[in-house]
Amino acid sequence: MTWASGITAEHGEDHPGARRAGAPVARADRALSAPDAEWHAVRMEPFVLSNEHVHLAMPTAADVDRITELCQGAEIAAWTTVPSPYTRADAAAFIEEVVPESWRTGRGNTWAVRRPDAPEGPVLGMVGLAMDTSPTPEKSAEIGYWLAPEARGEGLMTEAGRIVTDWAFDDEGLGLARMVWTAFTGNWASRRVAWRLGFRVEGTVRGFGVQRGVRRDAWIGTLLAGDPREPVEPWPSAEAGDRVGADAGAGEPAPRA
Ligand SMILES: CC(C)(COP(=O)(O)OP(=O)(O)OC[C@H]1O[C@@H](n2cnc3c(N)ncnc32)[C@H](O)[C@@H]1OP(=O)(O)O)[C@@H](O)C(=O)NCCC(=O)NCCS
Repeated sequence: MTWASGITAEHGEDHPGARRAGAPVARADRALSAPDAEWHAVRMEPFVLSNEHVHLAMPTAADVDRITELCQGAEIAAWTTVPSPYTRADAAAFIEEVVPESWRTGRGNTWAVRRPDAPEGPVLGMVGLAMDTSPTPEKSAEIGYWLAPEARGEGLMTEAGRIVTDWAFDDEGLGLARMVWTAFTGNWASRRVAWRLGFRVEGTVRGFGVQRGVRRDAWIGTLLAGDPREPVEPWPSAEAGDRVGADAGAGEPAPRA
C-alpha cells in the first residue's frame, strides 16, 4: 500500500543482464553518504526485467495519459492509496518525480507492466517495491501492484511479481532478506497473487493502513529469502469460512473456494 500511494516514472533502459530474474542490477552504489548509508541503500539505474510472460520497464512520460485513465478505475481507487479522484497532475508527478527519485535514492523500484510481445504498447499495470529503510543489512521491501481490468484474470501480475521477487532476493539484485505484502482486508484478488508467490498471510492488523485520511484494517504477509516461491498454505476455503469471514469484515465478499 505504501507503494500505491504514489508510484512511477521515466524510461527504463534496457539492461541486457537484467533480462532474466536474478540478473545483476545496472549499478549498485553501496558507498553512500549518511543518512542513506544507515539503511544500506542500493541506488541503481532503472532497467528492464523481462521473460516470455511479462515485460517490465520504468514507466515514461509517454505513459502519463494511460496511467491517468487506468487510475480512474473503481477497484484501483478501492484497494490502493492513489489519490481519488485521480488527475493527470497526479500521474505526471508520479512519473516525473516519485518514480525516478525512488530509483535514484534506492528507496524503491517501479516498473510498468506490459506483455513481451508489445513492449511499446499501452501500459497494462504497475508493480513496485518500497524499501524498508531500517538500518540493517537484512533488507526488506514491500511489494505493490495493480493491473488494468482488461489485463486481469490471466496470471500476468503473478508473473510480474515472480520476476520482481526473484530479482529482489537475488544477491546480485537487492539481496533482500524479507518481503512484505499488505492489502486492505477483503482484497482477495491481491491476496491470491501474493499466495501464488509464496507469501504467508500472518494476520489482520487493525487500522494498519491509511487510505485518504481513513484508517483501514489490512492483511499482512511475508516472504523470506529462503522460502519456497509457491503457495505454502491452503487457500482459504469454505471450511475456513469463519476465519476468512472474520478477516474479511462485514459486507465484504467471501472468497471463492
Ligand atoms: C490485484 C490484481 C493486480 C490481481 O490481478 P490478476 O492476478 O490478473 O487477477 P484477478 O483480478 O482476476 O484475480 C486474481 C485471483 O484472485 C481470485 N479472486 C478474485 N476475487 C476473489 C474472491 N473474492 N475470492 C477468492 N478469489 C478471488 C481470482 O479468481 C484470481 O484467481 P486465479 O488466479 O486462480 O484465476 C488486480 O485484481 C487489480 O489490479 N486489482 C485492483 C488494484 C489492487 O487491488 N491492487 C493490490 C493492492 S494490495
